[in-house]
Amino acid sequence: MSDFYVALPGETAPAVPAGPKLCNGDDMRILHSAFLFAYPRMAELVRDTPPGDTARAAFVAQWLGDIDHTLRTHHKDEELLLFDQLAERAPACALHVGQMKAHHAQVHAILDEIEPLRLEWPKTADPDTGEQLADAYDRMLEVLEVHLRREVVEIVPVAEKVITAKEWAGMAERGTKAVPKDRLMSQLGMLLSSSAPEDRKQFFKNIPLPVRIMYRTYGRRQYEAQFRLLWPGEAVPQTV
Ligand SMILES: [Fe+2]
Repeated sequence: MSDFYVALPGETAPAVPAGPKLCNGDDMRILHSAFLFAYPRMAELVRDTPPGDTARAAFVAQWLGDIDHTLRTHHKDEELLLFDQLAERAPACALHVGQMKAHHAQVHAILDEIEPLRLEWPKTADPDTGEQLADAYDRMLEVLEVHLRREVVEIVPVAEKVITAKEWAGMAERGTKAVPKDRLMSQLGMLLSSSAPEDRKQFFKNIPLPVRIMYRTYGRRQYEAQFRLLWPGEAVPQTV
């Protein structure tokens, strides 16, 4: 996945301010990689649900909703705690911040379109509503594959120079708190499984000890059980 985070021809990154790194922005890439694991699979999960199978549709829709919620709160946190601060402290990246805000607007518009469909579809699991939902996730993926990559390539190196470690940690903490407690372990598992081994090790090491203990005692089993239900027969990716 790390090969994914490169500029494409025609894309330019803003100048990175001189001076030491104030924070480590690696967890942005780690979180984005989890979204890039989940979103490419969403339309298929919907389309593979047998027509009329409301129990399966409800299970799938719950998972979709969990990830959509995490994406939405992640974006809101960036809008509140990152974008304007970056543009103010590193004016050379203001245009890039503007581009990120435009991507967010596209993502939020599609999320608004998705939400009523995602709530309606499990009531009957009818294929027409399912297809509308799957189509919206296809379009979402197109935006995210550009946005999540470019934010890591163009924004994070600047953020590391002008955002303090305390500010960066505050953003991560808000994001974690926004995940409902009973979803935290399965989302943590997905995040760990989507990371390169070195990133995974580093990320897990920095998690508060009680969460590490929870993950090792029951969280991993929760994540694995959910994975097997979502993708029966597929090998469960490794976490820690
Ligand atoms: Fe982000």
